[in-house]
Amino acid sequence: MRVITTISELKEAIQAEKSQQNTIGFVPTMGYLHEGHRALLKKARQENQIVVLSIFVNPLQFGPNEDLETYPRDFEQDQKVAGEEGVDIIFYPSVTEMYPNELSVTMTVNKRTDVLCGESRPGHFDGVVAVVTKLFHLVQPDKAYFGKKDAQQLAIIDGLVNDYNFPLQIVPVDTVREHDGLAKSSRNVYLTEKERAEAPALYSSLLMAVDLIKAGEDNPESIVNAITDRIKTETSGEIDYISILTYPGLENMEIIKGRYIIALAVKFTKARLIDNVILVEE
Ligand code: PAF
Repeated sequence: MRVITTISELKEAIQAEKSQQNTIGFVPTMGYLHEGHRALLKKARQENQIVVLSIFVNPLQFGPNEDLETYPRDFEQDQKVAGEEGVDIIFYPSVTEMYPNELSVTMTVNKRTDVLCGESRPGHFDGVVAVVTKLFHLVQPDKAYFGKKDAQQLAIIDGLVNDYNFPLQIVPVDTVREHDGLAKSSRNVYLTEKERAEAPALYSSLLMAVDLIKAGEDNPESIVNAITDRIKTETSGEIDYISILTYPGLENMEIIKGRYIIALAVKFTKARLIDNVILVEE
């Protein structure tokens, strides 16, 4: 496994792999790798000759009052995980390596941003598509792997790749959960003991919603109210949003029909957690 910190060295390494016609699977991350990332790496390992992992906490996708400074980092542990998952190249650039100058051309996501996380994190997805565009150009992967937990990010990146004809395939990977249902996240470490005990209510309320829909409830508002009640009763968290939208279009729906997502975000003292389920209702 090679750790590469500069763009010039990465370009050389990628060129060497391309000249041998090796397929490249790419897993972009911000590090502090957990089981969810392992699932992405495992899938990439199965499907490609070369696996490239990037670890870069991208300042462009953090708002002024967000956790850029305190975002958890542990490069030594990440290297261990990467080694165990058979990664060939870790790209671990500094901020100045990635952004030596202020960008002269910026990107704006026009669709799917005024809902879910985009609504409370203005500019977040512009920062995501900027870094992902850069990384895709550098790594030139055949396939890139993204978790369904960040369903809005996945939908937006899918839009980016389709709109701008990036020559690669986006592979969505299922959310990995703790034994009690809590979605794995780098931010779970910020939960207090009490909050950690409450947090599985996020997923169980989504499952309850699915049961209600399967039992015939097709009104999004009623479902959102039921989830709201459950989260308010079972957690001390503050609800950021609970939404039911079409997927991947992320548009409001009058009645629950077709492919849809139930997504939520709840703020605890030091961690804002997100979760979702994506389903089809005939
Ligand atoms: O999902 C993430 O960790 C980040 O948003 C990504 C895709 C690596 C871009 O910085």
